[in-house]
Amino acid sequence: MAVTKTAPVENNDTQPAILVENLSKTYGSGSSAVHALKDASMQVLPGEVVGLLGPSGSGKTTLLQCLGAIIDPSGGRITLGGDLLFENGWQYSDRRTLRRDRIGFIFQRPYLIPFMDATENIAFLPMLQGKSNKQAYARAAELLEMLDITERGGARIEQLSGGEQQRVAIARALANRPPIVLADEPTAPLDSHRAMSVMKLLHKMAAKSGTAIIVVTHDENIIPVFKRLYRLRDGVLHEEEGEGRPFDYLNDEQ
Ligand SMILES: Nc1ncnc2c1ncn2[C@@H]1O[C@H](COP(=O)(O)OP(=O)(O)OP(=O)(O)O)[C@@H](O)[C@H]1O
Ligand SMILES: [Mg+2]
Repeated sequence: MAVTKTAPVENNDTQPAILVENLSKTYGSGSSAVHALKDASMQVLPGEVVGLLGPSGSGKTTLLQCLGAIIDPSGGRITLGGDLLFENGWQYSDRRTLRRDRIGFIFQRPYLIPFMDATENIAFLPMLQGKSNKQAYARAAELLEMLDITERGGARIEQLSGGEQQRVAIARALANRPPIVLADEPTAPLDSHRAMSVMKLLHKMAAKSGTAIIVVTHDENIIPVFKRLYRLRDGVLHEEEGEGRPFDYLNDEQ
């Protein structure tokens, strides 16, 4: 059955925002096949921020790309906010709209549009969603302030530092208030103070808006903040308890 709902899902604590059951992904076939994900299962509740760890090549990006409907899983089931997304093929009729409205992506590199300034790079997503220019720019301004780069809003991308560009990319991912955020090493280009500020912001967003967030990371400094972690080894996923270290020990402006 094709799912046609496109509005963000309600915050419903009893229903996982992300449910992955026995997901597999094989690249290629025959003797050159790479089994990047093997029977992976996970769930993330609304308002939860979970870490996804694992060595290089263990399948972290593959898992996020399957969840984001960017690549096709080979088997298993994905359910987002109670709507079946994948089982024996995609069950969602319009995956572009799904990505636009329900999933925020943060990549290791910012991938900003060079001929737009920082504000426009954020505002264009709410505009695609049909928001007025005024609403879209107001949302961009709010996010620039949350990420402490208000004064860089009018700058062209090439005029921004790598860390500033990444913060614009994070703002863009949050612009449409998606119920799910998938972040693939989002703090890689940031110094440790900024990395921690971004993690704190993501946790705040999760708590305030019920956003479910998966953060792939290798960053030893931020791993202790997660309450719950998943670890991938050679395509096999295990759940672990995290330290869940509170943020209030931080002397930080956020
Ligand atoms: N498009 C592709 N075609 C073939 N093999 C691929 C493709 N993408 C990834 N792989 C392989 O799948 C496995 C998992 O890759 P993936 O990119 O998911 O790992 P990762 O955990 O994100 O690694 P890293 O920490 O280096 O980013 C690796 O063996 C990789 O070489
Ligand atoms: Mg990767």
